Amino acid sequence: MCGIVAYIGTKECCGLLIEGLKLLEYRGYDSAGVAILNGQLTVHRALGRVSVLEDKIKEAGAPKGAVGIAHTRWATHGEPAERNAHPHRDDRHGIALIHNGIIENYAVVRTYLEERGHKFVSETDTEVLTMLISELYDGDLEKAVQAALREVTGAYAIAVICEKEPDTLVAARKGSPLMVGIGANEYIVASDASAIVAHTSRAVTLDDYQVCKLTHDTFRTSTIDDDDVSPKVQELELELEQIALGSYPHYMIKEIMEQPRSLRNTMRGRIDQRDGRVVLGGVGQHARKLVRAKRMILLGQGTALHAAMIGEYLLEDLAKVPAEVEYASEFRYRNPIIEEGTVAIAVSQSGETADTLAGLAEARDRGAMTLGVVNVVGSTMSRETDAGVYLRVGPEIGVASTKAFTGQVAVLTMMALFLGRRRFMSVEQSASLLAELEKLPELVERALACSDEIKSVTEKYIDKENWLFLGRGYNYPTALEGALKLKEISYIHAEGMPAAEMKHGPIALINDGMPVVFIANRGAQYEKVVSNIEEVRSRGGHVIAVATEGDEDIKRYAEDVFYIPEISEPLSPMLAVVPLQLLAYHAAVLRGHDVDKPRNLAKSVTVE
Ligand code: AGP
Ligand code: GLU
Repeated sequence: MCGIVAYIGTKECCGLLIEGLKLLEYRGYDSAGVAILNGQLTVHRALGRVSVLEDKIKEAGAPKGAVGIAHTRWATHGEPAERNAHPHRDDRHGIALIHNGIIENYAVVRTYLEERGHKFVSETDTEVLTMLISELYDGDLEKAVQAALREVTGAYAIAVICEKEPDTLVAARKGSPLMVGIGANEYIVASDASAIVAHTSRAVTLDDYQVCKLTHDTFRTSTIDDDDVSPKVQELELELEQIALGSYPHYMIKEIMEQPRSLRNTMRGRIDQRDGRVVLGGVGQHARKLVRAKRMILLGQGTALHAAMIGEYLLEDLAKVPAEVEYASEFRYRNPIIEEGTVAIAVSQSGETADTLAGLAEARDRGAMTLGVVNVVGSTMSRETDAGVYLRVGPEIGVASTKAFTGQVAVLTMMALFLGRRRFMSVEQSASLLAELEKLPELVERALACSDEIKSVTEKYIDKENWLFLGRGYNYPTALEGALKLKEISYIHAEGMPAAEMKHGPIALINDGMPVVFIANRGAQYEKVVSNIEEVRSRGGHVIAVATEGDEDIKRYAEDVFYIPEISEPLSPMLAVVPLQLLAYHAAVLRGHDVDKPRNLAKSVTVE
């Protein structure tokens, strides 16, 4: 969601900032803007895509200057409109500011500032922060920013410049990610590494309540109370080609097709076949505490929640440890009971999801040990947990999560086997599952080969506005994930649920020709799933089944069948989800939607 890019150095930066915004477009936004400082401020803003802003700048003539800030906005306060787009300016000192996050006490601050004569031109909370800095400005921008941030509540990642200090760029963060790239005589501030790696591989990730003052030759980090902080410089591992589209039409299909490779990366060096063990470096030193855990709470949202739901089945089935999964957003307000021996596992691709971070903090504050299952290295979640396991699937650019989902499930599978082998599982049982797990990438390769067939089936139902996705056991969460994928990129209404639940009401929805997707791979409840299929067919529903290769019987019940290779049930969600990802992708393309940047959505929801 939303994006920040700022620059101070020796180059003309307008074009550089626009290119940076393009690298952050995948995060989701509704408008964009840029401010360049060269003696005075030149500001351009536009509703819609970065390309609209770019055209506007070209028409006006690109402003010169080696200090600038640029932003893509995902509206929270004030409708998507040019007047609400960032950068926002003050009315006294030539200050310009861009912001990711929410200033929660903006209303009371706005009233205070209006009483002090400030005139507002937008409905945003961001403009309030800009005017507050202006009100507190007394010739020192860094100090004014620190003072203002001591007065506001909420979440922010900001970059600020001022006409009265032409050689200064100030950045700060709390709750929204922000990094500072350290180049040769230049600094690039951005929401994530994607906009930095083109310029430098050295960067500092700001922590909450940290402020960074940059000039052409100085770099100072401090707290909002002006205490000095020594920055921790890290080497960015991201390579530009990892975020390049290559020959694919969309990032989503690239990332779906990448799953055999991303799964190999997730498992590399973590499976010791000889002894049937899993080696999880980030967790190993806590093994004794984890083996004695009395309860595991898994937290996430959206796709990550669906992976966490599969994690619940895996931990109880393979490690025999009580586990429960919670919407993080619900968990944090539920007044949860956390006893001794509780472990909270946060599952997240971005590691920045506000609800999941808040749920994690709640569990930690109540005494739980915390683990992260996260993709983005150095993300807030990876730094706020006691230990964790990175997905290693590479940057996931498509807003609809695909390779991160299978990566999350693979990590949770390895966690369950890591514990199971130390609790009740025999070497043989563990080694057998690990052997299957190591073969999974080639099985995913086979499942991906059905993409064209899935496209032609999708075409048959492309005008249908309501779908059901049904599964049992390990693949009940997979059904939820299939429904979410279809919803979020094709805008078709889809609902996932346990197959048995359909009889308790939703079966009333079945009408003639309604597409109902069943995950009907070989497993303990196969016969029950077939009974549910019959119930749907007898009411006119059209059944699309995900079934196990070689199952010819299923053709008696299903209009269309997507086959996946044979695999043990605990590992089957990572295969069964593949046809559902492809179905959603083809539906979105056939409907002409922006697959990678679906409407209203953000890649990382860093606001509550
Ligand atoms: C999934 O396709 C969506 N993009 C969304 O539900 C996402 O999974 C959710 O917002 C959680 O994001 P995270 O994994 O970065 O925490
Ligand atoms: N809350 C601010 C606004 O609505 C910033 C939103 C964002 O993070 O892009 O303008």
